[in-house]
Amino acid sequence: MSLKEQIDLSRLPKHIAVIMDGNGRWAKQRGKNRIFGHTNGVKAVRETTESCAELGVKFLTLYAFSTENWGRPRAEVSALMELLVRTLRKETKQLNENNIRLNAIGNINTLPKRCHQELLDAIEMTTNNTRMTLTLALSYSARWEMTKAIQRIAQAAAAGQLDPSQVNDQVISSYLETADMPDPELLIRTSGEHRISNFLLWQIAYTELYFTQNFWPDFNEEELYKAIIDFQSRDRRFGKLSPT
Ligand code: FPP
Repeated sequence: MSLKEQIDLSRLPKHIAVIMDGNGRWAKQRGKNRIFGHTNGVKAVRETTESCAELGVKFLTLYAFSTENWGRPRAEVSALMELLVRTLRKETKQLNENNIRLNAIGNINTLPKRCHQELLDAIEMTTNNTRMTLTLALSYSARWEMTKAIQRIAQAAAAGQLDPSQVNDQVISSYLETADMPDPELLIRTSGEHRISNFLLWQIAYTELYFTQNFWPDFNEEELYKAIIDFQSRDRRFGKLSPT
């Protein structure tokens, strides 16, 4: 039986989140610079996006640029931004053909102007698509997101619009960047690192974590299928007992 046939389509994760890691090491293994790794990472982004949509996954969220990534050498940051602009320009048509809506989370106002505008245009152009939502986390970190949410909750309380005793899980979720998405059921991290690195900390409370040794540019359809098959083999109890 092929890997694809082993997937139970009635129990797909609705939302998959991915920490795309290992572009630099992938390039280094080949004696190339880090940018070469990122460029090849885009192919994995395309293949993962199309495979998720084809299977019927409704939300795919990719950690494309973290708040901490601003601390990388200037040349690498500009190359990543340039790659983002080029990719958005090139792929928006394909997203429309595949009926995929583009979305972004993060402090996107801090992106270079051209990049920010390209992103807003692509979001606008795909806004009516319904098959899957592809969210890029850009200039994103979970602590930034939670800090912003807490500030807004405190402001609403101070203005008398929110009773502090009414603040609960749902209220907090509704103030996050991901307010209109279900929490991820599966989080994949490539490159053999076992860290969350400030990604979706609130949203992954009950998420199944999947780690693979593969570097991100080597991640593909088959690797995605393996992650989903592994996810489907797990007993998700959410702190309760399994039915006997
Ligand atoms: C992690 O590898 C990857 C990134 C910080 C950037 C991810 C970007 C892409 C895959 C390309 C652009 C994305 C889009 C959506 C167009 P790393 O550089 O941390 O690798 P290393 O850990 O081996 O150094």
